[in-house]
Amino acid sequence: MVTLDMAGEEVRIAGWVHRRRDLGGLVFLDVRDRSGLLQASAGPGWSSPEAMEAVRGLGPEDVIGIRGVVTPRPEAARNPDMATGDVEVQITELEVFNKARTPAIPVYLPPDEELPSEKLRLRHRVLDLRRHDLQAKLILRHQLVLAVRNYFHEQGFVEIETPMLTKPTPEGARDFLVPSRVHPGEFFALPQSPQIYKQLLMIAGFDRYVQIARCFRDEDLRADRQPEFTQIDVEASFVRPDDIYGWCEGLMARLADVAGIEADPPFQRLTYHEAMERFGCDRPDLRYGLEIGDYSDVLGALDSNILRGAVAKGGRIRGLHLTGGARLSRKQIDAIERAAKAEGAPGLFWAKIQEDRATGPMGRFFRDDTSARLALSPGDLILAAAGPDRVTSPALDAARRASLQALELPRTTAHAWLWVTGFPVFEEGADGTMGANHHPFVQPHPDDIHRLDSDPLSVRGLAYDLVYNGTELGSGSVRVHDADLQARLLGMLGLSEDEIATKFGFLLEALRAGAPPHGGIALGMDRLAAWLSGGTSLRDVIAFPKTTAARALYEGAPVQVGAAELAALGISVGESE
Ligand code: AMO
Repeated sequence: MVTLDMAGEEVRIAGWVHRRRDLGGLVFLDVRDRSGLLQASAGPGWSSPEAMEAVRGLGPEDVIGIRGVVTPRPEAARNPDMATGDVEVQITELEVFNKARTPAIPVYLPPDEELPSEKLRLRHRVLDLRRHDLQAKLILRHQLVLAVRNYFHEQGFVEIETPMLTKPTPEGARDFLVPSRVHPGEFFALPQSPQIYKQLLMIAGFDRYVQIARCFRDEDLRADRQPEFTQIDVEASFVRPDDIYGWCEGLMARLADVAGIEADPPFQRLTYHEAMERFGCDRPDLRYGLEIGDYSDVLGALDSNILRGAVAKGGRIRGLHLTGGARLSRKQIDAIERAAKAEGAPGLFWAKIQEDRATGPMGRFFRDDTSARLALSPGDLILAAAGPDRVTSPALDAARRASLQALELPRTTAHAWLWVTGFPVFEEGADGTMGANHHPFVQPHPDDIHRLDSDPLSVRGLAYDLVYNGTELGSGSVRVHDADLQARLLGMLGLSEDEIATKFGFLLEALRAGAPPHGGIALGMDRLAAWLSGGTSLRDVIAFPKTTAARALYEGAPVQVGAAELAALGISVGESE
């Protein structure tokens, strides 16, 4: 960087023309490179007539080289917001390496101008990536990845690459398939994660494995999902969940330090059951204290057929006590109710507590002592959902998030880290079939394993998630290391013996070869980089991301391929549905 202590030195600099200001006799250039901006000036006192003319012909994003002398700026012209703001380079010679067409989107943005739409910026990503903001995020990502590698190296982990061309193995989301030219009609799959390979590496005796691993999933996208993304994939032998928590907490503290934010291990832990009970979801945002309460006793005794009926049918009445919530308008409460309905609840019951009575659809059923029994005070609002937990939990989770937004409640902390532990091994699909809650390799909890046949849905796994500010940052488990148990679990998921042999035979063979107890986790590298750099979208920390419609806009992908290429792969494409 060019600084004041270099005053008088002759320097050569190169970069892009960020901005040019022509003040008659004097021309100022902001020259930009990865390190930032530097002001250069051309004037008759120090620049040759050719240099003056060349500077006058420059446009935004032209690529130039300058030879000049570092000169202190006059006191009044110093810019404390710019790292090089005390100096300028007085241009003696100028070389234009390349002229640029008028940029399709501006790189230099006047302070009062807004960024173009994200779609346009993705279409012109090369120009967008020149913005300091995005460069800083990608450079921070580099520093984080470096810290990850160093950290695990220090802990005795070995980075091992696993294949990109793998066996199609359903792991919940969808495979990208790759046709084999040499074996027409046969396909590889891009890895959804290195899950099975890292288990094989444990069985092979590597003990502690890590990989900054690229993963691919052909699934519907959201702001926190990309079809190709990167995991910090970790596995170790002879470990318990506490070992994994310890490594991850140490890593998070290190990464938070790199990013300049707080992470104070050990992180809070909640069981899955407790998280669902208190927050209605398995990744609660603990930056806010608001919790769900069980009001079945008091509300179920009111003279409302619906409330009584819900409890009589074995359901519960759970809800949120919003201190000061009576200030919410009808419209705001309706919006909270809509959020709950979108998650499948028939509706919300609510009451506003006034000085002398309760109002609102549920308020009119309140008895004299109802508010006192619920510890409600004048000015409060109570929102409730009635029914089985599988309906009320997601509804109250949505209502909680909508209420926090509507009430603009203050956060109790800026960075809420949390382990959610003891996820169930199985979950019930909408069609009544059993699926794996994480994936089919999770070791059932030793206290629950005897219920595998009698009550499988109640069996907890040694599975855990790391949650940051209400989003899932990582997910892992201790794995099954017994071949018979693994085959039994796959069978419970509906796979026939033949399917188990064809799809997972190689894993079972490895498990029979002397498999150590092992476990691990995968943390989302893109999510980490996005959130630790203060953003919310993964697209900000990926150089060439896909849109939510799963398209690459700069290079234009995916595309149709010609009949000849398809024929060579033995593929014919029918009408899409
Ligand atoms: P899981 O599928 O939960 O677990 O993924 C682990 C972590 O990877 C990140 N992640 C994603 N990031 C961006 N875009 C996506 N589409 C995407 N999908 C997942 C998330 C998530 O927490 N093999 C297991 C891990 C294990 O058991 O060790 C697995 O892949 O941050």
